[in-house]
Amino acid sequence: MVMISQIPQEFIDDLLTRIDIVHIIDSRVPLEKIGKNVRACCPFHSEKTASFTVSPEKQFYHCFGCSAHGTAISFLMKYDTMSFPEAIQELATHVGMTVPTSQLAHKTTNSNNLYGLLQRVSKYFVHQLHSHSQRGKFVNYLNQRGLSEQTIEKFNIGIAVKSWDNILKTFGHTKQETALLSDVGLLSHNDKGHIYDRFRNRIMFPIQDRRGRIIGFGGRVLDDSTPKYLNSPETKVFHKGQELYGLYQTRLANYRLTRIIIVEGYMDVITLADRGIINAVATLGTATTPAHLQHLLRSAPEVVFCFDGDNAGRAAAWRVAENALPVLGGNHEIKFMILPEGEDPESIVKKEGADSFNKRVENAQGYSNYFFSILQDGVDIRSMDGRARLVEIAKPYLRNIPAGVYRDMFEQRLAEISQTNLLMLNKHLERSKNKQQKAALRKSSDMVSLVRMAITILLQHPNLRQNIEKSTNIERLDQPGIDILVCLLETLHNNPHLNTAALLERWRGAQNNEYMQLLAKQPLSLSANSLQYELIGTVQKLREQALVERQSYLTNKTLNQLTDAEKKEVQSFNV
Ligand code: CTP
Ligand code: MN
Repeated sequence: MVMISQIPQEFIDDLLTRIDIVHIIDSRVPLEKIGKNVRACCPFHSEKTASFTVSPEKQFYHCFGCSAHGTAISFLMKYDTMSFPEAIQELATHVGMTVPTSQLAHKTTNSNNLYGLLQRVSKYFVHQLHSHSQRGKFVNYLNQRGLSEQTIEKFNIGIAVKSWDNILKTFGHTKQETALLSDVGLLSHNDKGHIYDRFRNRIMFPIQDRRGRIIGFGGRVLDDSTPKYLNSPETKVFHKGQELYGLYQTRLANYRLTRIIIVEGYMDVITLADRGIINAVATLGTATTPAHLQHLLRSAPEVVFCFDGDNAGRAAAWRVAENALPVLGGNHEIKFMILPEGEDPESIVKKEGADSFNKRVENAQGYSNYFFSILQDGVDIRSMDGRARLVEIAKPYLRNIPAGVYRDMFEQRLAEISQTNLLMLNKHLERSKNKQQKAALRKSSDMVSLVRMAITILLQHPNLRQNIEKSTNIERLDQPGIDILVCLLETLHNNPHLNTAALLERWRGAQNNEYMQLLAKQPLSLSANSLQYELIGTVQKLREQALVERQSYLTNKTLNQLTDAEKKEVQSFNV
């Protein structure tokens, strides 16, 4: 990524005085003028009354509902999911300014070329579906799969005809053009250095990013030959593990999605859309990555994973469940829906119809239900031994859930199922932790996430600092980020009126600046009230941990290694 500092601050200042945030936002979210402010229903959370306001004076937006706020730059970063340099570029183009960093300019024009080429090739694939002499068998195939004209058009489905050099000849007139075709993954090279079209004799599905730009293709054969699907390779603009097929169309239809369904295949997304279920997306033949999860949770508060009812599907579901542990909590929900044996979304929606499919989605299993039902599989919870085993199996998973309300409830649920009480369970979880090497524990992800959670809440809601005591005694904890947290607490204690922007300014240019920016942007969807308790609880846990560490440090010393002060401290532990 281009470092923020590579774009001169004066340029950004200048840019921000020339653009009008109202125009920028209005072209994406239609605004209504009321008094001094202009308003709309917030694009970042779901609401019925308009609490998203844009101030032309301050050139700032703020939502009273979800407290999203920022400048035109941050709006574009959030709404269009642009990077900082991309947002700057977009705004600069809007007012006819040139971004002064040569490196950035070069990178952007270069990418623009790639997007442009992919767009032209996609149009060409579509054109061939309607006009090429070979079109018959492709049209038949699409008909046989039951897709309507509108759906084919909506997903820009096209064809790559049977030819070794159709694309090469049409788009690769010069060496440069050929190189560009190669850069976007449209060509293959054999051992002899021979170059030819990558996609031949296939139905072509263009893959769009969240902004609708075409970044790659998937191509399907018409028969049983292999590979069934051929996808674009990783290129400068196509990163398979981050993209979700159909997300652009879904968001186009409804930006404020309340639910998003994740299915496995291109044809599932397309067939569901064809039957009116327009909120389905697919990963591109890869497992769901943490990057996917982040995208998904930002796109809708409820995310339903739908899997085929075969062993592969069930295994994939469990992998998602494992990957999702670190993002559990907040006010989003993750659900699972496993189809009957041998079915996939396409087959079942064709068989049962959209209403019935929607009902299945309605009845999808909540995360914790799914989680515990899988864990209980093969464990006899009627017996004490079985219940004990369940606790053993669950332990490593629980540790990956971020500390907070959700994790507490999860532990409670486990206590209920295993018929132990929370106190015993926690003691058990603690003890098993202690058994593992202390060093590993300190680095373990849940401790990191405690520190991180506290920093994130404080950064975004600095006023919650007032609920924490002046001194917390956590500075001795040997954990990544603890110095930042301590510094934040102190800064806010001395300057209680600092807001997020002012806090971030203090870290500008510091080593941890990017980390802080990241945490400031991290969606925190609990209400301010719940966050208050979350913060108090988190700091409390850190204090307890600090105390445990201190105790074990002191008790590992022999009596004559202890200073007088330390002896007193040890005595105070025993009271
Ligand atoms: N996939 C792939 N390469 C393959 C097979 C599958 O990239 N050789 C990816 C595609 O994204 C595909 C998804 O995995 O959409 C799911 O595979 P599958 O269930 O086999 O595909 P469907 O979309 O159901 O395809 P179809 O119904 O056309 O057979
Ligand atoms: Mn299928």
